[in-house]
Amino acid sequence: MKFFVDTADVAEIRELNDFGLLDGVTTNPSLIMKSGRDYKEVTKEICDIVEGPVSAEVTAVDYDGMMREAEVLGAIADNVCIKLPLTLAGLKACKALTEQGKLVNVTLCFSANQALLAAKAGATFISPFIGRLDDIHLDGMDLIREIRQIYDNYGFDTEILAASIRTANHIKDAALIGADVVTAPPATLKSLVKHPLTDKGLETFLEDWKKTGQTIA
Ligand code: E4P
Repeated sequence: MKFFVDTADVAEIRELNDFGLLDGVTTNPSLIMKSGRDYKEVTKEICDIVEGPVSAEVTAVDYDGMMREAEVLGAIADNVCIKLPLTLAGLKACKALTEQGKLVNVTLCFSANQALLAAKAGATFISPFIGRLDDIHLDGMDLIREIRQIYDNYGFDTEILAASIRTANHIKDAALIGADVVTAPPATLKSLVKHPLTDKGLETFLEDWKKTGQTIA
């Protein structure tokens, strides 16, 4: 499973990348707004840090506008992945851009049928939003399960990028179902390492080691 981080915070991205944890980054207009940075400048900086795909989202809602914005975003760096909304115009732009060999992430997916359309349009990634479905008392993980089955039934290459991740359990469940990628906030990715028994065990080992009076280096 690939790990993407869902943020435009360069310091957080640098830290996770240094841990060797990152396969890519996803941003969106809200995350750019939160960063308080110029979108071109921050996207370029992220693309220089991370080797993998960096999703940058269009804000036009019509096909021509999306194609114009995709050109600007794509010129920022070779690893920019154009993020398009799951609308008819977005699917049309997805088909055109993937035919040009561009990486495309189709976002705001909330149903299996939408994911089927994105795969038929040749999307590199489909982003089903788990947390936002859970927020309205649906089961986001059911959507991942349905998409996995449909993509496997027909041998679609589109990668399932589980998005809107809120908890460590979301990541575990998405991995068990077979999502190809997960994108999560920095704190959620870092929380995966935590276990109270690890902390307790380490504490005991260190206390006992101190009693031996020895040092290793
Ligand atoms: C995905 O690419 C989106 O940026 C993101 O996962 C949305 O998550 P949210 O529902 O927590 O805003």
